[in-house]
Amino acid sequence: MNLKGKDFINLEDFKKEELYELIELASTLKAKVKNNEKIDICKNKTLLIFFEKPSLRTRLSFETGIVKLGGTPLYITKEECAPGKRESIEDTARVMAKYVDGMAIRTFAHSTLEKFAQWSSVPVINSLTDKSHPCQIMADILTIKEHFGNYTGKKLAYIGDGNNVLHSLLVGCSMFGINISCACPSGYKAPEDAVLLAKKYSKETASTVEILEDPKKAVQDADIIYTDTWTSMGQEKEADVRKEAFKNYQVNEQLLQNASKNHIVMHCLPAHKGEEIDFDTFEKHADILFNQAENRRYAQMAIMASIM
Ligand code: CP
Ligand code: NVA
Repeated sequence: MNLKGKDFINLEDFKKEELYELIELASTLKAKVKNNEKIDICKNKTLLIFFEKPSLRTRLSFETGIVKLGGTPLYITKEECAPGKRESIEDTARVMAKYVDGMAIRTFAHSTLEKFAQWSSVPVINSLTDKSHPCQIMADILTIKEHFGNYTGKKLAYIGDGNNVLHSLLVGCSMFGINISCACPSGYKAPEDAVLLAKKYSKETASTVEILEDPKKAVQDADIIYTDTWTSMGQEKEADVRKEAFKNYQVNEQLLQNASKNHIVMHCLPAHKGEEIDFDTFEKHADILFNQAENRRYAQMAIMASIM
């Protein structure tokens, strides 16, 4: 696998086998970090982190991840560099690329991220856009693999909003051979482009894709139940309308009665307890949820080590 110089924008930009290899590398790097082994794959390399939206996990996992690889993080705020305001995105990206070896970028519009990637001469990593969140899903696959020993043939039920996380889950699960079933209320459906990609990949991996509205049907015999916020960053004005639309889509013990006996619950976080997940369910599955957050670092270390 030679991914040097490649951007990490969408999971579908990669061959399935390349993503499988990245997950293996993430496991290896995690073991090395846990053993306190020195890693210098990114020695003398700098990762620039530029986010238009807030972040806790993504920022910290990239910052500590590049340090664990022997490199240096460099964070710049949107107020400081103001791409598109103080200077065009085209020029901002070309300047940034003169000083660093890779960029982790979080934007509202996916097209802004694509523009950075187009104009930057160093690899750009999608750190979440309104469309997708591929780094999250790589960490999720690693978490599923660690818990179950494998991922193929498992069933993941996603309950909630047809958002960026669901987009990448549909593509990722189908590429890794995980059966995915999602329940979203009408008006908040799974993104059509991701559904089409998932259907294509599921044929290649002999997995299934189910697009539903009924959460009970979706969680039937599911091994993994996954949810995310009802109101994503940038949608804050819609919060009240969304709370009403999603009120029957909470992941709680009653809903989970239909899941497989040994199910786990996942959430990309931040969670809104009492909304998409109830407090008791969250605490019951806290070990998995926080391992999922920790695994962001190892998944992204594998990505950085491979493309930078
Ligand atoms: N899951 C996730 O991306 O979290 P942050 O928004 O805190 O980075
Ligand atoms: N769908 C959420 C994910 C946060 C990590 C959002 O975009 O805000």
